[in-house]
Amino acid sequence: MKNTALITGATSGLGLSYAKYFASAGYDLILTGRRREIIQKNAETLQKRYHIKAEVLIVELSDPNGISQLLSFIRDRDIHVLVNNAGFGLKPFFADTPQEDIEKMLYLQILCVTQLTHCVLKGMLQRHDGIIINISSDGAFAVMPHNVLYSSTKLYILNFTEGLHTELVGTGVHVQAVCPGFIDSHFHENAGMHMDKNKKGLFGFRQPDDIVADAMKDFRKGKVVSIPDAGAKLIRFMGRFMPRKAFYKMSASFSAGVIKKKANTSASHK
Ligand SMILES: NC(=O)c1ccc[n+]([C@@H]2O[C@H](COP(=O)([O-])OP(=O)(O)OC[C@H]3O[C@@H](n4cnc5c(N)ncnc54)[C@H](OP(=O)(O)O)[C@@H]3O)[C@@H](O)[C@H]2O)c1
Repeated sequence: MKNTALITGATSGLGLSYAKYFASAGYDLILTGRRREIIQKNAETLQKRYHIKAEVLIVELSDPNGISQLLSFIRDRDIHVLVNNAGFGLKPFFADTPQEDIEKMLYLQILCVTQLTHCVLKGMLQRHDGIIINISSDGAFAVMPHNVLYSSTKLYILNFTEGLHTELVGTGVHVQAVCPGFIDSHFHENAGMHMDKNKKGLFGFRQPDDIVADAMKDFRKGKVVSIPDAGAKLIRFMGRFMPRKAFYKMSASFSAGVIKKKANTSASHK
């Protein structure tokens, strides 16, 4: 029997790239998402290409019922790899964010990640074997307007993963937090942000397959935190070493630049 990798949010972007990666390594897959036709097609393609079994669970993970549904689905299953990837962005200022969106983000990016990890960990510890990959973001290092709630959840994911690592040393269970910069995926469109994805280089967009390849290279080297972009590394460096006031100022002006560019790009999309 093959080992199983559970990947949340495998409809597109990074989650689909992780699905390809683990399918090509011979894992059976459990994939979650909401866009039924697309994820079903992904699963069929991966099954045929890699001769593995790919199951799909259509589930909304930003509410407690959906999280319970997924936990019940996997309760008696051996999960050898968990990739906590499903996530979304929000663009309003925090004060303007509807209560409903706040709850959705906290359920998906904090509660779901925590409970899924807790659920699979017991079996992994019994088997002395397991991989948990949690998708954080360069947002975890950033402090900027229009990013407050999102980046706070990503900081939680980063800290949660590093803390877990310290508890799991020597158990055979390995964890990693991945902190990418801009990814060429559906993320920005879904958040109502129209950005120029042709931008390359520092703070440019990268392909999800390349990010997964870099993060897994880091994983094999034993890196608990993978930062697969130069821009993300720079943000972390500045956040650590710049005086806080200067960091706030620089972050706000960077954000203002991105917002202005977004506005221009949105205008040219109309
Ligand atoms: N894009 C970036 O620039 C960037 C940068 C740093 C980190 N990240 C992180 O990378 C991860 C993957 O994002 P991506 O860029 O690959 O975006 P994406 O293409 O939009 O993929 C997001 C995935 O998450 C699923 N998802 C979103 N909200 C969900 C919900 N409420 N319930 C269940 N599933 C949900 C989506 O499912 P459906 O589409 O089927 O609904 C989709 O499969 C996220 O955690 C994101 O925060 C992204």
